[in-house]
Amino acid sequence: MSVHVQAIKALTPADYLMIEKEHRLLEKFLTDLRDACACSKQEKLPDCSRCDYEKQTSCQGRLPSFLYYVIDLAADHFDHEEAIMLKRPHVTEDYEYYRMHKLAHAEIMHKLNALVDECFALDREANTAEIYIRFYQKLSSMFEEHDRSFDDPFILSTKT
Ligand SMILES: [Fe+2]
Ligand SMILES: [Fe+2]
Repeated sequence: MSVHVQAIKALTPADYLMIEKEHRLLEKFLTDLRDACACSKQEKLPDCSRCDYEKQTSCQGRLPSFLYYVIDLAADHFDHEEAIMLKRPHVTEDYEYYRMHKLAHAEIMHKLNALVDECFALDREANTAEIYIRFYQKLSSMFEEHDRSFDDPFILSTKT
């Protein structure tokens, strides 16, 4: 997550550290998800057929845990970010920008939960590495889009 170091200085050090730490955890999660299945990090087209059936099943079986982990991580982070926003001068529950940002968080949570369902509906024969790459791309673009539209402007707004 890109953080404007100058701009964030107007937040209290504790708030700044919390947002920074949680954004780093989300970034780390995305890298771990990308690299979780050995075949998904290959430059060329992923090919799980060289892994034995147990390995393929174990890669696919780990996907829900990744999703449950990011659901917890994102839920905590969104709560913290919303509480920090409410501490800003002029920001109330009714403030439009706050409501839109909070709504965007709720939409991400909804999409993450839908991905869990999608994950359990996956065809057991599907190419596991491709599934990891697809989920990684979906989640990365979702978080990047959120940063561009909400977190970056919020952090900029903390400039005095
Ligand atoms: Fe946010
Ligand atoms: Fe955030």
